[in-house]
Amino acid sequence: MTTLDFPLRKKNHEKISMVTCYDASFASLIEGTELDCILIGDSCSMVMHGNPTTLPADIGMMVTHTKAVRSKTKKFIVSDMPFLTTRKGLENAVDCAGQLLVAGANAVKIEGVDGQEDIISHLVKSGIPVMSHLGLTPQFYNAFGGHKKQGKTEDSVEKIKREAKMAEELGCFSVVLECIPQELAEEITQSILIPTIGIGCGNDCDGQVLVLQDLLGMSDFTPKFVKKYLDGRNLITVALNEYVRDVKNGVSNESN
Ligand code: KIV
Repeated sequence: MTTLDFPLRKKNHEKISMVTCYDASFASLIEGTELDCILIGDSCSMVMHGNPTTLPADIGMMVTHTKAVRSKTKKFIVSDMPFLTTRKGLENAVDCAGQLLVAGANAVKIEGVDGQEDIISHLVKSGIPVMSHLGLTPQFYNAFGGHKKQGKTEDSVEKIKREAKMAEELGCFSVVLECIPQELAEEITQSILIPTIGIGCGNDCDGQVLVLQDLLGMSDFTPKFVKKYLDGRNLITVALNEYVRDVKNGVSNESN
């Protein structure tokens, strides 16, 4: 998959599947699946580093995870621009986006559009594909008063619709819509030519993205909207306890 395939997939009504990935071992597993593309989300701050929000993910963290994932997969990778990296001027944004592409990303994701129009446009014109992210943008955790569903007021609906249109006009190749009402996600999906990738906003988007550990049932907290495709925590616990029993009983843990 390349950036050019995203609008084509929308045109041909072929849904786009995306999951997050942060490390080499899962990247090698994903490489053997039918998944279309990978998001190295700044959710790594929470999932891999145990922080309560995505805010502590900095460019060093994102570069490290991007390199690890790229070492094991040829799939299309989008890496998140960390908190405030697009708010410290053009030079800083270009430097950070450049680091992510050099580390192996094919594109970067930027939360929100307002106030970042020049930066998004400049990155796109510089050969750095940009995926937009609207709705519940976790970097706005403090402004939103928590990880809260968006698009619940008229103002919020108008802002999300306007920003989606703007993302398309600025040259973004796709837009993630997170935790907004299904009807709003559907309306946006029908009103723009670039694909929408949904999370927690129904089935009408042009694709879906989930946090890998959530869909595999490995997370200690999983958002209500996430379907668990594996009872990961339980399966891993059982396996680890079996190992412990083998160690305690002096049973060999070598494969035959
Ligand atoms: O960081 C992330 O994992 C994300 C997805 C939840 C869309 O941005």
